[in-house]
Amino acid sequence: MKIAVLPGDGIGPEIVAQAVKVLNALNLNITLTEAPIGGAGYEASGDPLPEATLQLAKDSDAVLLGAVGDWKYDKLERHLRPERGLLRIRKELNLFANLRPALLYPELADASTLKPEVVSGLDIMIVRELTGDIYFGQPRGISTLANGEREGVNTMRYCESEIRRIGRVAFDIAMKRNKKVCSVDKANVLESTELWRQVMIELSAEYPEVELIHMYVDNAAMQLIRAPKQFDVMVTGNIFGDILSDEASMLTGSIGMLPSASLDANNKGMYEPSHGSAPDLAGKDVANPLATILSAAMMLRYTFNDEVNALKIENAVKKALAQGYRTADIVTDGCNQVGCNAMGDAVVAALN
Ligand code: IPM
Ligand code: MG
Repeated sequence: MKIAVLPGDGIGPEIVAQAVKVLNALNLNITLTEAPIGGAGYEASGDPLPEATLQLAKDSDAVLLGAVGDWKYDKLERHLRPERGLLRIRKELNLFANLRPALLYPELADASTLKPEVVSGLDIMIVRELTGDIYFGQPRGISTLANGEREGVNTMRYCESEIRRIGRVAFDIAMKRNKKVCSVDKANVLESTELWRQVMIELSAEYPEVELIHMYVDNAAMQLIRAPKQFDVMVTGNIFGDILSDEASMLTGSIGMLPSASLDANNKGMYEPSHGSAPDLAGKDVANPLATILSAAMMLRYTFNDEVNALKIENAVKKALAQGYRTADIVTDGCNQVGCNAMGDAVVAALN
């Protein structure tokens, strides 16, 4: 098993080091190779996705990524910015299916900003389309109009096959869970999502056991806070999924808990925490490494079909939380507050 390790920027290197520590402790037959991406890629070779990094990712079975981005790159031309490296690697590897599970660990019910009774038992799988939509649609850009005023343009578009393949992922996952899919769109206003809804309805004919409902994105954002336990699988486009998955993460106590998998049609995948690079926390050993460690568990499950070791990691995370270990973002009364590195150690210790 060949894994490309791309730590990236900000807290990326610290959190990835913890996930690597956990993977190594499992004594699996894996080779880990590191390469720069994002701002680190720009520093190394003037490109947020250096050619060698992309090649390594293509040659590997899976990619473990930290996070990209730092304010100091905000002034660079757009194509040189760290985020572009991330978007390009998703596109180049055809990672169209982004799975973001929002799962509440019972120990963290008090860490959520919502009442424990609203979130306890929460288990939602957000399936976000990742290589289309307004993120990639052409035309795009900033230009100057005839009257001298500047105009910014982005284009929201989806073709049928893109909608169908992400829909299929959602329905297949629902079949292994509670057989409920909520498709999120804005079909009352946006044609691209009107088509989204039509295709989801067509596809549902192939999954008679799955209950399909539709929700407008504004309502979905509200329902996630009002009664999040009504959801099983949510499927949506790139931009809505970006926003709703950040929202859902806070139901679980902290965005530092939310892992993700981005898969292609053959389950090759890139695994990364759903959160960003948090440059303000970098180098302070305070970041929560659990989302990255849980992303490594998803890697074992989805790309390497190794449910046993995936569960081992997830159970070790649960055990470390049950033992009271908490990073700053999830502190609760009477807990044992630790840094990033010590949290990684606690998970390694709990593996046995
Ligand atoms: C995410 C992030 C990225 C996105 C950014 C960093 C480009 O917010 O993975 O959710 O918008 O997809
Ligand atoms: Mg996001």
